Amino acid sequence: MIVKGKDQQDTTNARYGSVLIVGGDSVVGTNLVKTFRMKRANVITTTRRVDKLDKATVWLDLLDVNATEFPSLKFDTAILCAGLTSKQQCDQDPQQSYKTNVDGIMHVVAKLAAQRAHIIYLSTNEVFSGSDCFPTHKADVNPMSIYGKLKAECESKIRSITSNLTIVRFTKIIHPKFPLFVEWVCRIKKRETIQPYCDKYFAPIPLDYAVNVILRLTSMKFPGIVHVSASRDISYYEAGVVIAKTLSRDINLVIPHRSINDDKDIPNLAKTALDTTTLKEIGFSPCDPCDTIKAWALKYNTTVV
Ligand SMILES: NC(=O)c1ccc[n+]([C@@H]2O[C@H](COP(=O)([O-])OP(=O)(O)OC[C@H]3O[C@@H](n4cnc5c(N)ncnc54)[C@H](OP(=O)(O)O)[C@@H]3O)[C@@H](O)[C@H]2O)c1
Repeated sequence: MIVKGKDQQDTTNARYGSVLIVGGDSVVGTNLVKTFRMKRANVITTTRRVDKLDKATVWLDLLDVNATEFPSLKFDTAILCAGLTSKQQCDQDPQQSYKTNVDGIMHVVAKLAAQRAHIIYLSTNEVFSGSDCFPTHKADVNPMSIYGKLKAECESKIRSITSNLTIVRFTKIIHPKFPLFVEWVCRIKKRETIQPYCDKYFAPIPLDYAVNVILRLTSMKFPGIVHVSASRDISYYEAGVVIAKTLSRDINLVIPHRSINDDKDIPNLAKTALDTTTLKEIGFSPCDPCDTIKAWALKYNTTVV
């Protein structure tokens, strides 16, 4: 990944203490566990997959929290990654989503707050409506989607029970197997066209950058709200062109498409990029979205035959 300056990584001698990662199988959680362990931090994770249990991995189902036995260990920090993250799933079953993303998380937070753990709650730009440019961490939330509403409600409830808390709102995190881009690359390489939206926007950030921010927050125990966003929005069409160019393919294969025939899988937010004042306070500068896409394409191209 292209990262500018040494400020974009947490220092290897940072002190993390004992860390609980709730949702160790999530994309972000998996990479957090790997990175913390590389730095020899003391990490326990949770899973709802019985075949993955071991002495550092405890069972936790947000829909059955009473059955969970928390390890007797006291945690310095707990990072909350688990939850229903598909907007479509939240739309289809709002009750189940509420039980998971609000009730389940609050049960866990209550236990952790009682032992004075610092809590890092992973939230989203979807707590905003998308009508304002670069909302700050102090701006009022105004979610449009059910997923965003549950995240906003959970933020507010956690704040009411502990101040030992960082709320981190991410824009779109791009991981190495990001399915939309993988599909585009397959098609472009076969000289097939792709039709990304030219009127839907996102502010992509690399997964390893997101992980490094969380590591920094863990060592700093930063109190408050941090926005982790690219420096600006780009359209999905612009992203498609960057991928085609990076792979030295014909950019005419990328055909701009208007979102008249809606696709619910893509966030329907006019503006997604966030103000990053507090991100800068912890020593990170926001990434350029085109650099992120380019780095993704280069890396994907070298790892896939
Ligand atoms: N990825 C992004 O672009 C992005 C952007 C903004 C915010 N966030 C937030 O960052 C966090 C991590 O995102 P992610 O993309 O890494 O998530 P993810 O890959 O979709 O993983 C979600 C995890 O939650 C677990 N889960 C779902 N229901 C559960 C339940 N009832 N009990 C226990 N665990 C349950 C899943 O377990 P299984 O693996 O067993 O299914 C899965 O591991 C989420 O809170 C998300 O809202 C992510």
